[in-house]
Amino acid sequence: MIKYKRILLTGASGALGRVLRQSLPTVTATLRLTDRESIEPDSEHEEATVCDLADRNAVMDLTRDVDAIVHMGGMALENTFDTIVQSNIIGLYNIFEGARRNGVKRVIWASSVHAIGYYKRTETIEPDCLTRPDSLYGVSKVYGEAIAQYYYDKFSLESVSIRIGSCVPKPLDWRMLTTWLSYPDLQHLIERCLTVPKVDHTILYGVSKNDETFWDNTKASHIGYRPKDNAEIYRAEIEANVARPDPGDPIIAYQGGPFVAAGHFEDP
Ligand SMILES: NC(=O)c1ccc[n+]([C@@H]2O[C@H](COP(=O)([O-])OP(=O)(O)OC[C@H]3O[C@@H](n4cnc5c(N)ncnc54)[C@H](O)[C@@H]3O)[C@@H](O)[C@H]2O)c1
Repeated sequence: MIKYKRILLTGASGALGRVLRQSLPTVTATLRLTDRESIEPDSEHEEATVCDLADRNAVMDLTRDVDAIVHMGGMALENTFDTIVQSNIIGLYNIFEGARRNGVKRVIWASSVHAIGYYKRTETIEPDCLTRPDSLYGVSKVYGEAIAQYYYDKFSLESVSIRIGSCVPKPLDWRMLTTWLSYPDLQHLIERCLTVPKVDHTILYGVSKNDETFWDNTKASHIGYRPKDNAEIYRAEIEANVARPDPGDPIIAYQGGPFVAAGHFEDP
């Protein structure tokens, strides 16, 4: 199943980067890890470079001699506009531009539910819906999807934009009974994105096989993503421990949940 000589994993010190560091050796001979936090190789199959994604020259070096990129690095929550710009706007551009200049075949990267957070939970949406970001963070993910589409249309650089729901070890609240993505399902999804013959630029929802859903991935069925986990097994635990929100509360009424409920980050 080893398909690639070298894959670059960004955000390798982060939560999802650490999960993917475990599974990616099944598809690549060498895993190049990077983060701005310190990181060390664990075996002769790993390389590690500390670098800021906003440093264009460093990212040009980082993306050299790489076949595919799994891009998990970036600001993973709402923050100031300037912080988001450095990591998610400039950083993401550098990754795609490095991929183009260095002939990388495919970029798989983490978009987010917050690109479409203003849809109500009563609506079922597909990957090609109008984006409705719920935060500056969500806006940066919409920008990332636009960059991915642009690089595919203009340069035929293939990519997958995964609108990840809530990727945590287990669902923690009522909303996550719908948005949860388990770690094993994330690992399987990334492996599919890397190994299917053709992805063009695909957008899909990163979500487990939960009974409750507001996302329809039918248009991304060519990825062959077959999630196995279901948040429903945690329902009793959540019912016992987490107060049920009022159905009209934005925290549960909108797909973006707490990001919709929050004010504008830069306001005092
Ligand atoms: N975990 C989730 O539920 C979830 C949901 C939706 C989207 N995502 C996206 O998935 C990706 C990974 O999320 P995570 O939960 O692992 O977040 P995380 O914060 O744990 O990891 C992100 C990593 O990126 C690194 N990073 C940030 N800015 C950087 C920069 N300028 N240069 C170099 N490294 C930088 C951080 O040091 C960190 O290690 C993020 O892009 C996030 O937006 C995650």
